[in-house]
Amino acid sequence: MWVLAHRGASKAAPENTLKAFRLAIEKGATGIEFDTYQLGEQIVVFHDRWLDRTTNGHGLITAQSFEALRQLDAGDGEVIPTLAETLALMPANALCNIEIKHLTDAAGWLKTLDLAMAASSLDYSKLILSSFNHTWLRQLKNLRPELQVGALTATYPENGAEFATHLSAYSLHMDLDVIDQHYVTQAQQAGLKVLVYTVDQKEDLLLMADWGVDGVFTNVPELAKQVLAER
Ligand code: G3P
Ligand code: CA
Repeated sequence: MWVLAHRGASKAAPENTLKAFRLAIEKGATGIEFDTYQLGEQIVVFHDRWLDRTTNGHGLITAQSFEALRQLDAGDGEVIPTLAETLALMPANALCNIEIKHLTDAAGWLKTLDLAMAASSLDYSKLILSSFNHTWLRQLKNLRPELQVGALTATYPENGAEFATHLSAYSLHMDLDVIDQHYVTQAQQAGLKVLVYTVDQKEDLLLMADWGVDGVFTNVPELAKQVLAER
């Protein structure tokens, strides 16, 4: 079962920072999950719409210039990273789930991604582009069919995994609070990887392993690795 560090090793370090990503790899995570906003020609790594919870800044992230964002403290003196900085940090074997929270122009987004990838040691097969906004995923997939997309859902769809297969998704990402074993089996039989968020408790980690999910998003990758090793 893949252990994907959710926003990096975000219990031990400030979420969505290079420090959290570096730590995740040090702790043996299979890879990382992080959130992104497209701001003009830049893609920055950030979760909330508002700056206030995780930085010393205020207001909507989309109302700020890139230069102003880069002056902020995202915790422990870390700056808000760019996509390029994040991917450049990753070893070639790390799986990277880029969650898209804000997309304004799919073609521009891919151009920024390509520049970031050229400066990293990763292959495109190590990327999963996910979003709760499936229209954005479809736009990206139409432009670049070979990209792996992950359909995110926080609810239990009535038609099983159909919404994800319809998107030609690589994976289906579902909330631990709603998923059940039947759904995991159904999605996997439809050819999808099943990734579950956010799994931080030992009992839940073991349950996901028992259900045979393909991966978990966790804020505590070290604990997850340990629990799986002792299983
Ligand atoms: O990608 C899984 C999970 O991160 C989705 O929810 O709010 O943590 O971005 P959120
Ligand atoms: Ca996320």
